[in-house]
Amino acid sequence: MDLSPDLAAACLVPRRVSTPEEAREVVDADGAAIVSGITDETAAIAFGTAMLGADLRRIGRQIEATTKRAVEEGAKVDAQPVDARGRKRRLSTDVSLPMPPHNDGFAFGDYAPDRLFLFSARPAAVGGESFLVDGLAVLDILAKDPANAEMVEFCRTVDIDHSEPNFPQDGVSPILRTTPAGRPQVRHHPYLAPVVSGDEAQQWKFVELWKAAVTYARDAGARFRLEAGDMACVDNYRVFHGRHGYTDPARKLYSIWGWSSAAVAVPVGELDIVNPQKPAQLAG
Ligand SMILES: [Fe+2]
Repeated sequence: MDLSPDLAAACLVPRRVSTPEEAREVVDADGAAIVSGITDETAAIAFGTAMLGADLRRIGRQIEATTKRAVEEGAKVDAQPVDARGRKRRLSTDVSLPMPPHNDGFAFGDYAPDRLFLFSARPAAVGGESFLVDGLAVLDILAKDPANAEMVEFCRTVDIDHSEPNFPQDGVSPILRTTPAGRPQVRHHPYLAPVVSGDEAQQWKFVELWKAAVTYARDAGARFRLEAGDMACVDNYRVFHGRHGYTDPARKLYSIWGWSSAAVAVPVGELDIVNPQKPAQLAG
């Protein structure tokens, strides 16, 4: 399959908003919004809390993204073994490379947050631009070419394994599914794999095409800077995020995870991305 240059259009440059209410509307409509003037992490969480309003189930800091932390946690993950299928977990420790586009919390399956807040406390002096890939748009663009019909049908209907190596999840589902609350959820990360079956060889082709299409969109599409005090508010069920390479060791970004009443499952507490075991579920 030749990847269409049209895939670049799946990259989202969010509209700027000024209030939590406006952020909510724009995230619901477009998949992401940017707000400026966030002074610190407490203010970031307060904005997210206000944005989710009565639908809020849980919100909290998940990741303080710094070069130091990437190296420390990356070493722990590097020590984990290859899984039975030859898949190896790696964190994005080499910050000079662009990140794979991903939904945050993908290792936790149903417990991944449905809303994500990326608060830039200090951007890299050079590089480190953000990207957001609208997963629904990637599928829509692919679907315009009849040559992709089989691949798009696969993404929409065939269950695959969304787990990380050595951290199996309870269930399987298609790349795009509709959640019990009726929302679309589309997923991308480096470890996607077919379920083990007789069709595995055929299915790997489609999984790899999906990864190639999303990665192409990242590389061909728009990127933007999150300046100090900027925060991207993201529909983590629809949009894949990441940053391009940088070298500045002082870059600091907080990843804050939010679960609304429409989330598939809500964990009780902070999740451990180094050892992504199935979390306890928040009741109700
Ligand atoms: Fe992330």
